[in-house]
Amino acid sequence: MAERFLRVDDLVEDLDRLLSWGESLKNDPEAGDFLPLIDMTVASIYEKPSTRTRISFEVGVKQLGGHPMALGANEMQLGHKESIADTANVLSRYVQGITHRGFGHNDVAELAESSTVPVINALSDEHHPCQAIADMMTIREFAPEVERQKIAWIGDGNNVLHDLMLAATILGHDVRYATPDGHEPLSSVVSDAEAFAAQSGGTVKRSSSAEEAVEDATVIYTDVFVSMGQEDDKNKLQDFEGYSVTGDLCSSADDDHIFLHCLPANRGVEVTDEVMDGPHSRVWDQAENRLHAQKSLLTRLLNDAAWDTYGEVMGVEGW
Ligand code: CP
Ligand code: NVA
Repeated sequence: MAERFLRVDDLVEDLDRLLSWGESLKNDPEAGDFLPLIDMTVASIYEKPSTRTRISFEVGVKQLGGHPMALGANEMQLGHKESIADTANVLSRYVQGITHRGFGHNDVAELAESSTVPVINALSDEHHPCQAIADMMTIREFAPEVERQKIAWIGDGNNVLHDLMLAATILGHDVRYATPDGHEPLSSVVSDAEAFAAQSGGTVKRSSSAEEAVEDATVIYTDVFVSMGQEDDKNKLQDFEGYSVTGDLCSSADDDHIFLHCLPANRGVEVTDEVMDGPHSRVWDQAENRLHAQKSLLTRLLNDAAWDTYGEVMGVEGW
């Protein structure tokens, strides 16, 4: 079985360097000469729609010298006439890496199990690790310069929160999440984040209200209340009354706090225009950082030799 990045803690030892290399790929004018994926093809399977993930992977693979291949699930035999395992076996004979966006986390895990090339989870119902590395890169770039960020999550407790809390606690930050009853994150993921926090000096705690979570926060983060695949759950929105991120809610946060959203945003529902377009919002930088963070990730998973020598070649400080 090849390496996999199905949840952000699959590369726990490399997380800090993934961010540093991403920052370097973003800022170094010579990054364009770095072509670790030359002659490589990356197949990306989409069972759900995507704007940022699909485009940033396609552009990123191309910028690293490789060939991106996006595949809609309905254009393949997958799910109709061919199993996930058989698809993984076949793709492994053609391509050097696979990304997958789907529904249940078991599907991407099964794909990785049968693949002999690295598999990256491009979002499942339970995890969104690529988002988390871009989020941590954005926090390092724009949040107030404190060692331990106070990250307030307001909203649903699923994929984006799971990997955010894992990444943040690996890096020693404090996470407070306000989620309505019945929409809490998985207790197994919270336990894993608590274990990381115990090692790093961070914390992870549930807040009893959105107001309590944002108090003195340096980072405020929300996501849609109705995720992809949940559109038929017409009553879900009712549970989120009092969880919209408004200017008023943010007024008790740190004066220099940043606002993040993985996007797409349902404006007027989980966040107001005033916050999305306001002076604290870094959502466009966050979306841009998907590209840089994933280029770093692709290098790490697909070309070990280039990853090992990247700092030397690019003259990264501290390498
Ligand atoms: N944040 C994110 O994954 O966006 P897309 O669904 O557009 O890829
Ligand atoms: N929780 C959202 C994230 C979108 C990037 C969803 O799964 O639809």
